[in-house]
Amino acid sequence: MKGIILAGGTGTRLLPLTAVTSKQLLPVYDRPMIFYPLNTLIKAGIKDILVIVTPEHSGDFLNLLGSLLRKFGINVSFIVQPAPRGLAEAYVLAEDFLDDASSTLILGDNIFEDDFAEAIQTFTGGGRIFAKEVADPERFGVVEFNGDYQVLSIEEKPERPRSRFAIPGIYIFDNTAVAIAKGLAPSPRGELEITDLHKHYLGEQSLDVRVIRGAWFDAGTHEALFEAGAYAKEHNFASNFHPMLNDAIREFNVEFKKTISLKK
Ligand code: DAU
Repeated sequence: MKGIILAGGTGTRLLPLTAVTSKQLLPVYDRPMIFYPLNTLIKAGIKDILVIVTPEHSGDFLNLLGSLLRKFGINVSFIVQPAPRGLAEAYVLAEDFLDDASSTLILGDNIFEDDFAEAIQTFTGGGRIFAKEVADPERFGVVEFNGDYQVLSIEEKPERPRSRFAIPGIYIFDNTAVAIAKGLAPSPRGELEITDLHKHYLGEQSLDVRVIRGAWFDAGTHEALFEAGAYAKEHNFASNFHPMLNDAIREFNVEFKKTISLKK
């Protein structure tokens, strides 16, 4: 099982915060946003992680993450997505990195309270996605269930959602995701939609959907970014981080301070 963090995109909904930096590097309380999805993958035991970034901010991601986990046996690599052509393009860009492995893709602006270790470690094939009941499903991919939690439909940002279950930005797929993504056509908004990938697995009857109960933030708006930071502080998310990642962050701070004193 390999991991992919999708940290590209334009971040226009967060302007002017994103005028000079990437959305996924903005602070969520006491640490950059991307540390949260990174933590979700590390807690699930994933040791090979690809970070997909924009050309403009690739250097910043490399400076922050390039050496952070080197000593801890976790391999972090990077690939540039030249233009935001959609979430499903991640699988096309990651083809060589994946080398036929299954993967967990997590969006760089999605922050989860739940632990996904069991869901990731017990994955055997097909696709596994998640559902979370929300007040504003029209902002997200939406999944409709029958009474037995069998999936009836999946839609991307429907005007009239058929359910209140949003599909959060964490997806577990086997290696056929690459071939499926390569065969997708762009949607009317010009993107390779992740929900089209879900629908493909659904059509093959190999899509498993699990409802999550913990807090979930898509920190892509000012309101959600603020709420995510407040929640992370109140619920002491730092203590929920893998101890190894917390150690790595502490060491990073020490090294950073040393570099500053050398420059003086
Ligand atoms: O947050 C969950 C939702 O994420 C899902 O429910 C939707 O089905 C899914 O389409 C997506 O919707 P968003 O409108 O929130 O996607 P957004 O364009 O904000 O992109 C999500 C993240 O992926 C964000 O961190 C930017 C990054 N991204 C986005 C695109 C389109 C890329 O790295 N490359 C891209 O091409």
